[in-house]
Formats: sequence, C-alpha cells, structure tokens
Amino acid sequence: MASKLLPRASRWLRPSSIPQYRSFSVAPQRLSDALMVHRNKPENNPSLPFKFSEQNLKVVDEILKRYPPQYKKAAVMPLLDLGQRQHGFTSISVMNEVARMLEMPPMRVYEVATFYTMYNREPVGKYFVQICTTTPCQLGGCGSDAIVKAINEHLGITPGHTTEDGLFTYIEVECLGACVNAPMVQINDEYYEDLTPESIKALLTALKESALTGAKEPAPGPKSGRKTCENSAGLTNLHEVPEWTPEQFMRKDGALDGETKQ
Ligand code: FES
Repeated sequence: MASKLLPRASRWLRPSSIPQYRSFSVAPQRLSDALMVHRNKPENNPSLPFKFSEQNLKVVDEILKRYPPQYKKAAVMPLLDLGQRQHGFTSISVMNEVARMLEMPPMRVYEVATFYTMYNREPVGKYFVQICTTTPCQLGGCGSDAIVKAINEHLGITPGHTTEDGLFTYIEVECLGACVNAPMVQINDEYYEDLTPESIKALLTALKESALTGAKEPAPGPKSGRKTCENSAGLTNLHEVPEWTPEQFMRKDGALDGETKQ
C-alpha cells in the first residue's frame, strides 16, 4: 500500500514553478514629516516660559477640586488640555508647567502627552482639520478618499502639514464616532458631516473668509441637510403618535412591595 502512495507523494515534493507565496495588498502610504519625538525649536523649547492665565488658574482650581489632594496628578489630562487651549499647542513648557503644578516628574507628563494624539505637540493652524479615513468613512457617501483629494487640492498641502498662511493644519485620523454621517471631518471642536468634495471645499473657503473678515463660521453638523443622524431615506416608521403611552405599561412605585415582603 505504501509503495503505491510513493509516486503520488513525490509529486508533491517536486519543486514547483508556481511561486509559493501570496503578495500582500497594502493601502497607499500618506507620509508626513511630523516627528514623534521632541526636538528643541525656537518656538518650542523649555526656555520659553509658560504660565496659565488668571482666568485659567481659576479653572485649574475647579479641576483640582475633583480629586483628593494626594491624587491631584489624576488631573494631568484636563490640565494639559487647558494648557493646549491657552497656548495653541502642548509645548514642552506647557508640559513642564503642568508637571510643576501637579508635583509630578516631567517624564510622567511627557508620557501622557505623547500617548494621546489629541495633544498637539507642534504648533497647528487656526483651524485644525482632522479627516477620518477609517473604513466606514472610506465607504460611506462619496468616501473619505474623495474628501482627502479635495482637501489636498483646495489647501495645496498633504496630511501632516500647515498652510503657509497658518490657517489650516490637516491630518488623517481614525474613527471619530460619527460613522453614520460618513464621510466627516472634525475642525477644532466641531464635526462637519455627510461631506462631498464640493461641500468640504465650500466649508474651507467659508472658514478662511471667517478668519480674514470676522464673518460667522459655518454651523457644524451634516452638510446634506438632514438633521443630525436621522435616516437619510426619511421617516420609515412611527409616522403617527401612538394611542398608548409608556406609562400604561410601567409598574407603579411600590407595586412589588407585597411580593418582596413575602
Ligand atoms: S469611521 Fe469615520 S467617524 Fe467612524
């Protein structure tokens, strides 16, 4: 029996002319020159002083009240955020000041600031544009690739860079939790959703005009006209007010008292 199997087995051992590997398909790399380490620069080095403003010192006091005094280092994240909002970015001096106030080794603060991508450790433009390119945004609507291309064309920069006028910094990010309104961008603290190449260009134009003339900034939210994340196909159920009210089916307070006492 074994001898009958040998020729068949040896056929499998013969070197094949067909390559025995499969190539990976990879997404195109969109490189930026943003560094993941700190390098002293004229605008970002420890010799530049940073202090919280009088107004923000009151906010710091409020934040610190949330934590027992012996655990005040737990306030490192909100204080870094406050510093970033005041200074424009989380400079090394902001980190050092937070470390001093919370009596933490500076390295502990650096670890937090370098772990969370929401802390910008380099100066950013007046408008910080974060385009989501995670799968739902890649597939939703016109797709985030079309939005990335439109931003590249409109601003003349690629992700990780700032426009020459200092108005826009633009990066790609992972899911921002608004997938149902894909594709979308976050600009500073606001979400702009249901985008098309035309609407993102119009939005960037309006923001630039607002920065130059003081005009009102465009309202955040979906650019498709729908309200928040309601069904884009319109109302599909609950067309009428139901004849019953939820209270009809709710247990009254104390209704279970008799049962629990038994
Ligand atoms: S994938 Fe873009 S917001 Fe979730």
